[in-house]
Amino acid sequence: MRLPVVVGFRLPEPVEREFQARLDARFLDVFPRDEGGLKAALDGAAALVVTPPIKADAWLFEHLPDSIKAIATYSVGLDHVDLAAARRRGLPVVHTPDVLTDAVAETAMLLLLSAMRRATESIVLIRSRQWQGWNPRQIIGQGLDGKTLGILGMGRIGRGIAARARAFGMAIAYSNRHRLPPTLDNGATFHDTPETLLPICDALVLACPLTPETRGFLNARRIALMKPSAAVVNIARGDVIVDDDLIAALAEGRLFAAGLDVFAGEPRIDARYFDLPNVFMLPHIGSSTIETRLAMGRAVIDGLIAVLSGSRPPNLVA
Ligand code: DGY
Repeated sequence: MRLPVVVGFRLPEPVEREFQARLDARFLDVFPRDEGGLKAALDGAAALVVTPPIKADAWLFEHLPDSIKAIATYSVGLDHVDLAAARRRGLPVVHTPDVLTDAVAETAMLLLLSAMRRATESIVLIRSRQWQGWNPRQIIGQGLDGKTLGILGMGRIGRGIAARARAFGMAIAYSNRHRLPPTLDNGATFHDTPETLLPICDALVLACPLTPETRGFLNARRIALMKPSAAVVNIARGDVIVDDDLIAALAEGRLFAAGLDVFAGEPRIDARYFDLPNVFMLPHIGSSTIETRLAMGRAVIDGLIAVLSGSRPPNLVA
């Protein structure tokens, strides 16, 4: 018998087909936030799949029907899942690590290159139809070769970014909760505190999970430690940055540029970003490739089938 599963959002069609082939899957166009709606939507389901815009908070865990025996999140990030509340209900949680590492690392490079090479201004100019032709003074950016990339958070995605940045000739320095063994750091320089990392970076990539320790990490005090020529890239979560402080630094030339894929309060992002020509922005597309969407789907399906048959899949949240 196929497991009855409710997916609280819509997926690309090939991914939905895969869910339907292996599970008895229902997809919700709108996720209910009232008790009656939730009860009706989850009737008879053995598992619920959420994703970052759907907060799996204490309220949700309190109101889940007893038929729900597991939760999956279609994301590597877990900041929208109240893991303590899941534990209180005795519900295992699975997520999608590893399979999105390459896509997110590629997006980080897109943001990094776009910030350093002033892509927003270039796109605005060519689309304005006012471009006057090649001019050696126009839109002068910065190259990557020979520069130092600082990475905050050297997990799978941070290491994927490091590998790609090395191919562009960058030296890698990082700050992380723990120093990596030499088999994983590939010669990257470890800083046991971000305070020594920030002054040496020509670009800084935020690749850490959002936790109470990293919330508001990039604030005015830390920005003041950075070179005014440095760029900031965020593929982590918007709340790792204090928007007021980053926006002021970018507007006043205390930082060169930013490349942002994630924002506090998505999708209602701080409107001041739109007015900054030195900000290159993407709408949280870090993992949006068809290969990755399919692989994330398979990770959720395999994980749910495994936990609901009593085994421990590798993507079970410890
Ligand atoms: C993730 O997997 O955490 C991505 O950021 C999607 O939210």
